[in-house]
Amino acid sequence: MTSPTGCPVSRDAAAFDPFGASYQLDPAEALRWSREQEPVFFSPKLGYWVVSRYEEVKTVFRDNLTFSPAIALEKLTPAPPEAAKILESYGFAMRRTMVNEDEPDHMERRRLLMDAFLPENLEKHEAWVRELVRSYMDHFIDKGRADLVEEMFREIPMTVALRFLGVPSEDAKELRKFSVAHTLNTWGRPSPEQQLKIAEDVGQFWKTAQAILDRMREEPTGEGWMYDSIRMHNQHPDVVPESYLRSMMMAILVAAHETTAFATSNAFRILLSNRASWNDICDNPTLIPSAIEECLRAAGSVVAWRRIATEDADVGGVTIPKGGKLLLVQASANRDPRHFENPDEFDIYRHNSAEHFTFGYGAHQCMGKNIARMEMRIILDEFVRRLPHIHLVENQAFEYLPNTSFRGPTSLWVEWDPEQNPERRNR
Ligand code: HEM
Repeated sequence: MTSPTGCPVSRDAAAFDPFGASYQLDPAEALRWSREQEPVFFSPKLGYWVVSRYEEVKTVFRDNLTFSPAIALEKLTPAPPEAAKILESYGFAMRRTMVNEDEPDHMERRRLLMDAFLPENLEKHEAWVRELVRSYMDHFIDKGRADLVEEMFREIPMTVALRFLGVPSEDAKELRKFSVAHTLNTWGRPSPEQQLKIAEDVGQFWKTAQAILDRMREEPTGEGWMYDSIRMHNQHPDVVPESYLRSMMMAILVAAHETTAFATSNAFRILLSNRASWNDICDNPTLIPSAIEECLRAAGSVVAWRRIATEDADVGGVTIPKGGKLLLVQASANRDPRHFENPDEFDIYRHNSAEHFTFGYGAHQCMGKNIARMEMRIILDEFVRRLPHIHLVENQAFEYLPNTSFRGPTSLWVEWDPEQNPERRNR
């Protein structure tokens, strides 16, 4: 077997299957052989060039002209014609939005729309995010057992994203319904039946987004990122065109929701599985921000991202032909011993954890990274104070939605003795 450049494909490369059990179980482990022997290889099963080492992943992320993000959200499994018809019936015309845009448009818009994402402008959200976290905990704090994914982690990032956008809460319910099928749709292998259902949901999502946007436009002084964007559209219609607003509303919800829900679930799983680290953050919550970076390194929620070569280019000594598609496996780069000492060890005191690629890198690096960090920090902070004695329910099976890129368990059961809750003991 040969690659598109005519080079022979090794046995391991030919066998690599991102939908197979080993990648789904642990993508970094599944690519250990590649990090050691063949850090850039062509995968015939995927039709992509896979990049697994830290430096090579960084090289590609850094150069967004040679390696365009245009395919970042392309469906890995093309939709059947019936699904396309459904979308057409909704007038669906999602355009490129930030994450998959090329220069110079991308940077011009990113600069105009960045303000609300800056740490100094996020501070004002902290108090209500904490309130929200506390209210979700109140529902189960006396029960002694909870599925944290179902009862909390899936809900909070969506609620935060909607409020950050400024979407009125009566509209939020509608949007919430439609945004969930996206992971499977984009990075998975949905069945033809699932494709039709997804097309219907995406069409509804599209329609609802426009109706909400129309209402928001009637309030010129509204607060939230979507209102900011409408104002930017009014001032710079050439840079932020009308069609961009609706696409961006959908894109942000998708970008903010499962990424953060999964990252929080992964963080709890890995911290509770490394009890000494959990105990350390309970004893000293100032360790939480660095612990979060180590969680994002060792168990990130976005494990692989895509680029396409705009010209023939060299990556780690391998020629990627123009039009070659690349799968950058951040989970693997995050465990590269050339960059992280003892990378398989979970170490909340590691000095360079924050250099992980879970948020990407370079011109397109995640705009919402500080929102995600804030949510995770507040959630952990509330848990170490209110439920430091939780532990994972033993022998639970962790399931993951089969896809190349988004990773987090579909449920996470924890238990504790409510009698030992600090709030009861201190009464
Ligand atoms: C882009 C991961 C949360 C908004 C990205 C990218 C990744 C990523 C990998 C692509 C980076 C690249 O191409 O170099 C994550 C993870 C999150 C998270 C792991 C949670 C733990 C959020 C949140 C928001 C958000 C909460 C918004 C509220 C965006 C936007 C972009 C982006 C707008 C496009 C930036 C650009 O292309 O300039 N994110 N994300 N993300 N993310 Fe996030």
